[in-house]
Amino acid sequence: MIVLGIETSCDDTSLAFFSPGRGVIGELTANQLIHEKYGGVVPEVASRAHMKNLLPVFNALLSKSGLAPEDIGGIGVSNGPGLIGSLLVGVSFAKALAFSLERPVVGVHHIEAHILSNELDGEELRTPAVVLVVSGGHTCLYKMSTVGRYELVGNTRDDAAGEAFDKIAKLLGLGFPGGPAIEKAAKTGSATAVDFPRAMMKQEHFNFSFSGLKTAVRLYVEGQTAVTDPITADVAASAQEAIVDALVKKTIACAKSYHLRHVYLAGGVAANGRLREKLSLECGRFRITYHAPLLRYCTDNGAMVACAAAKHLAQGRDDKLDLDVFTRGPVTSWV
Ligand code: KG4
Ligand code: ZN
Repeated sequence: MIVLGIETSCDDTSLAFFSPGRGVIGELTANQLIHEKYGGVVPEVASRAHMKNLLPVFNALLSKSGLAPEDIGGIGVSNGPGLIGSLLVGVSFAKALAFSLERPVVGVHHIEAHILSNELDGEELRTPAVVLVVSGGHTCLYKMSTVGRYELVGNTRDDAAGEAFDKIAKLLGLGFPGGPAIEKAAKTGSATAVDFPRAMMKQEHFNFSFSGLKTAVRLYVEGQTAVTDPITADVAASAQEAIVDALVKKTIACAKSYHLRHVYLAGGVAANGRLREKLSLECGRFRITYHAPLLRYCTDNGAMVACAAAKHLAQGRDDKLDLDVFTRGPVTSWV
């Protein structure tokens, strides 16, 4: 079955065709560069841009993939968590298409789609495992006993890791989105130049906190007479190291505590080279197998939604026109 995946939960309009046998058949994304000038995603602007982009992206993807609408066997759409207006555009489009083509439509939890992006390299997930989900809105640790069975065991108390990257980049005048900008600036800086705080490291739970780090960076920057390029590079490298340290330590502690031999990364921040390097090294030290999604499937994309939807559709699920959106909430188990 060819599945259409639709992702419009934040600022990217991304569609893809996927089939369990062939993998990703075609994909197309329209990025919304308009938010750059505001230094963050403006929800109303994002939903209007989705309305403008969605149909042209769909038509272009069909011709690029050599497919007709009738070739679509089922539809999956991110229906939450995310920006309500943005989600509504994708979900309304998915329902209209399902109705007109008489095909099943399923809502996909955006975080489950990120987790399953790890299968887009053609390798089936190995379970039981711990998954570190790090995106612009989430920083969570999930215990995944099998695909479809998830238990939230750690969460951020305040900012998400991606949000910390974005806010620190803004403080340093590095632009939006902040994660890639910090990673780039950090390349010429020293990770040990400034000893930024790592919160809650001695506590035995698997929760995170990044708001103290953001404040520490602001106070450090305000204390400088001039924020030169070398200072920016050192702050970027040191802040990145503090975020990565906290993420890696808690993930390894979680895996050890639950005796899990597989660790998966997921979400936009999973694209961070230093996080991938350090988590992989630390997993190796404890003989835990480390896995990460292909770089191009770390940030939001329609392929991960289609891949997740294919699993739900294979169970015979059809949400029909009842499908609705939601703004927050953890991944729920379905097996
Ligand atoms: O998963 P995603 O595309 O959207 C959400 O669901 O939030 O994640 C976006 C987040 C942004 O905060 C962005 O700064 C961060 O992922 N990000 C990175 C990198 N690439 C994207 N953070 C650190 N290093 C990167 N290379
Ligand atoms: Zn995401």
